[in-house]
Amino acid sequence: MTETSNPPRQSVQAEDLLIRRMRTSDIPEVMLIESVSFGAHHWSAESFGFEIKNQIGRYYSLIHKGLNRLIGYCGYWLILDEAHITTIAVDKAFRGNGLGEVLLVKMLDRMGTQSVKWATLEVRASNFSAQQLYYKYHFKSMGTRPHYYQDTDEDALIMTTDNILSKEFRQVFRENRVQLMERLGGKLPEGAD
Ligand SMILES: CC(C)(COP(=O)(O)OP(=O)(O)OC[C@H]1O[C@@H](n2cnc3c(N)ncnc32)[C@H](O)[C@@H]1OP(=O)(O)O)[C@@H](O)C(=O)NCCC(=O)NCCS
Repeated sequence: MTETSNPPRQSVQAEDLLIRRMRTSDIPEVMLIESVSFGAHHWSAESFGFEIKNQIGRYYSLIHKGLNRLIGYCGYWLILDEAHITTIAVDKAFRGNGLGEVLLVKMLDRMGTQSVKWATLEVRASNFSAQQLYYKYHFKSMGTRPHYYQDTDEDALIMTTDNILSKEFRQVFRENRVQLMERLGGKLPEGAD
C-alpha cells in the first residue's frame, strides 16, 4: 500500500503520549504505519522482530495512551561512536504535530547518554518533509548513494550531524527541544529507557 488518502489530522499533547522501547507485541501496529509510510520499500514484520532483538539496535514506540494505540516509532543502530538512524515514522493522521520531532529528540537524547558523536541516516532524495526535519536539527547532506532505493531506483541522500556533544549542536538541540515542549503543552511525552 502507498500513501494515497489524506485522513484528517489529529492534534495531540505530551500528556496523551508515552514513548517506550518497542516490543514484539507492537509489531502488527508498526506494520500498519510502515506499509503506508514506506510503500514497496517497507520492512517486514520479521525484520522488526530481528531488529528489536539486535544488540546494536534501539527501537522506540510512541503510544497514544487515550486511544491505546501505537502512532509512531523510530530506531537506530549504535556502531561505536556513531548512531545510524534506521527508521522513523508517524501515523499519517497524526503528522504535523511535532511527533516526528518527538521521536528524533528521544533518539538524540538517548544517544547523548551513549557517548555517540555522530548521528547519520539515509533519506530518499524526494523526501522533502523528512529532510526538513533533519535540517531543523542541523543534519547536513554529505552526498548521495545513487540508485539506493530499488523500488523506484531513487538516490539516497546521506545526512549526518556535527558532533552531537559539541557546544554548537547542544545549543540548537536545546532551543528546538524547548520549542517542541511549548508546542506539546509544556512538556515532552513521558518515556522509559
Ligand atoms: C518524516 C515524518 C516522520 C515527520 O513526522 P511529523 O510528525 O509529520 O513531523 P513534525 O510535525 O514533527 O515536523 C517536524 C519538522 O519536520 C519538518 N516537516 C515535517 N513535515 C513537513 C512537511 N510536510 N513539509 C515541510 N517540512 C515538514 C519541519 O521542519 C517540521 O518543523 P516545523 O513544524 O517547525 O515546521 C513523517 O512525515 C513520516 O512518518 N513520513 C513517512 C516516513 C518517512 O519518510 N520517514 C523518514 C525516513 S528517512
